[in-house]
Amino acid sequence: PDPERDRLIQAYEWSAKFYHYLLKNTEHGKAAMEYLRARNFSDKMIDQFQIGYAPDRWDTLLQFLEKRNFDLAEMEKGGLLSARGEGKGYIDRFRGRIIFPIANRTGKVIAFAGRIFGEGQPKYLNSPESRLFNKSRILYNLHQSKASIRKTRQIVLFEGYGDVISAWEAGVHNGVATMGTSLTESHVALMKSLADEIVLSYDGDRAGQAAAIKSIPMLEGSGLRVKIALLPSGLDPDEFISKHGGERFMDQVIDSAVSSIKFKLIYLKKNHILLEEDGKIAYVKEALEVIASLHSSTEREVYLREIASELELSYDSLKQDCNLLRASMQ
Ligand code: UTP
Ligand code: MN
Ligand code: MN
Ligand code: MN
Ligand code: MN
Repeated sequence: PDPERDRLIQAYEWSAKFYHYLLKNTEHGKAAMEYLRARNFSDKMIDQFQIGYAPDRWDTLLQFLEKRNFDLAEMEKGGLLSARGEGKGYIDRFRGRIIFPIANRTGKVIAFAGRIFGEGQPKYLNSPESRLFNKSRILYNLHQSKASIRKTRQIVLFEGYGDVISAWEAGVHNGVATMGTSLTESHVALMKSLADEIVLSYDGDRAGQAAAIKSIPMLEGSGLRVKIALLPSGLDPDEFISKHGGERFMDQVIDSAVSSIKFKLIYLKKNHILLEEDGKIAYVKEALEVIASLHSSTEREVYLREIASELELSYDSLKQDCNLLRASMQ
């Protein structure tokens, strides 16, 4: 039994309901609601993910918690309140932000992410790490997606809250997100205990691609199969769905996810100008290192043939170089 922990969970649970209510039913929440609508968040998703709004005031949640006799020092430690700058007392930690409640595996709210709307920093303010909330272990939306994960043995991994939510509406019910932190070994171990395959659906920008390159060996190292969902440059999954619709997301992104080898080759290719001999040779060199590391000779042949036809090279010379490389790798 851990009464302090239970009280903090109770406070988060009630605060989530309170912020959700303020978003939907009050004058304070109006602008935030309009912002969410403009981003194509449906009422259904706003309810299901219990999205809320923390008004831009000092004492909205403070009064709510005080009335319910919560220990304010405890609430500060748990990340719902902040210590007042000078003097004694407390103020709301989340002010003027859209609230995304973060739940643990059993569905209890244990933290908030607050997104600013309009200008300001940081874009997302999270609850601090606490005995309840350890970012490197929590996967956003795991409580709602675990039923589908159990059935499919597959997890679609996103970067952000909006991606998970929009994808859910598009039909991805096995989606979770790491929250700003990069993927950790605890995340990987947790996913390995639930699934056999991960579909990486990171943002289609440089950072997202680099994160995928980093995550692949961690995931594969644990024995998980990995596929990568490709997005047109610049868009994240949420933006893709807003722009092109959920059906296209399912067909052209999730169901068209490529193997990790294919993704690495695409990724490497981007750094080279293939129309120039130097670029072509440099790309082939890097690509061969990836292909040479494949254990299956069938797989090696498939990719070597692809590159051969794409770059108008002979399969034989590619194969020869690949074998030389393999010999040097022994
Ligand atoms: P992104 O910058 O891609 O944000 O960060 P986003 O999810 O697309 O957010 P929108 O669409 O602009 O609202 C991906 C994730 O990284 C974490 C959040 O979990 C975010 O969803 N993050 C990002 C933070 O924790 N803090 C930040 O300041 C920024
Ligand atoms: Mn509701
Ligand atoms: Mn991003
Ligand atoms: Mn994003
Ligand atoms: Mn986004």
